[in-house]
Amino acid sequence: MKDYQLLIDLHKDAKRQGPGGDAETEKALGLAMIDREAPLKIADIGCGTGASTIVLARLLQAQITAVDFLQEFLEVLEGRAENLGLSEKITTLSCSMENLPFGDEEYDVIWSEGAIYNIGFERGVRDWNRYLKVGGLLVVSEITWITGSRPSELQKYWEGEYPEIDVASSKIGVLEKNGYSPTGYYFLPEYCWLDNYYRPLQDRFKDFLIRNGNSEEARAIVERENREIELYEKNRTHYSYGVYVARKLG
Ligand SMILES: C[S@@+](CC[C@H](N)C(=O)[O-])C[C@H]1O[C@@H](n2cnc3c(N)ncnc32)[C@H](O)[C@@H]1O
Repeated sequence: MKDYQLLIDLHKDAKRQGPGGDAETEKALGLAMIDREAPLKIADIGCGTGASTIVLARLLQAQITAVDFLQEFLEVLEGRAENLGLSEKITTLSCSMENLPFGDEEYDVIWSEGAIYNIGFERGVRDWNRYLKVGGLLVVSEITWITGSRPSELQKYWEGEYPEIDVASSKIGVLEKNGYSPTGYYFLPEYCWLDNYYRPLQDRFKDFLIRNGNSEEARAIVERENREIELYEKNRTHYSYGVYVARKLG
């Protein structure tokens, strides 16, 4: 994991590692009409330090498997769960989302916030389908164009970063093609990006650079993040994370 050490160092003390919010996780729960008293089995894939995992554990009577391939993030999540008295509801699993050790139809709910892009939305929803019970729910957030057209500079940047970026109607089509009935969609408001993610990230840059001797690699990471933030600030009306809820068909 040597390549990831700087990213771990920059992100592990953060409450979250991507745009989102506790209220928005709860809103997705409402949209999915998940029974808060049911003894559900949930996988939270790409959980980071557990922003969504903690909300789910707090609100549900569920057993949650929190998956990430960075053990350092899972250790932070374990500490947070312990402090909040939620450890009994959460089991961490250090493994890749490409190669999950789950059984067929093992889970009632698959949850994934800001992480499926790592293997691509289409591949993720297709590959993870078999782990869900028939009638089970997929709740996934994915970067999404929220306008029909956009400045070419922006289009070029995101198509370079993530060619699968698209409008919600296309993402919903992907869900329909891969064995799901989409039941809900909304997109994250600006404060989920700026107040909840980008501003706290910027506040960590100075100490991050000092800790890492102002190395070229550390500076490159900060520059890259700043470019992404600048682009968001300029073009925030054109994209966000879409949150998609879909039911597995039989
Ligand atoms: C943008 S962060 C989102 C984290 C968290 N869900 C949140 O919203 O704060 C993406 C997460 O996916 C994890 N990740 C990236 N590639 C992965 C892979 N192949 N398998 C498992 N986890 C992965 C990263 O370690 C990171 O924690």
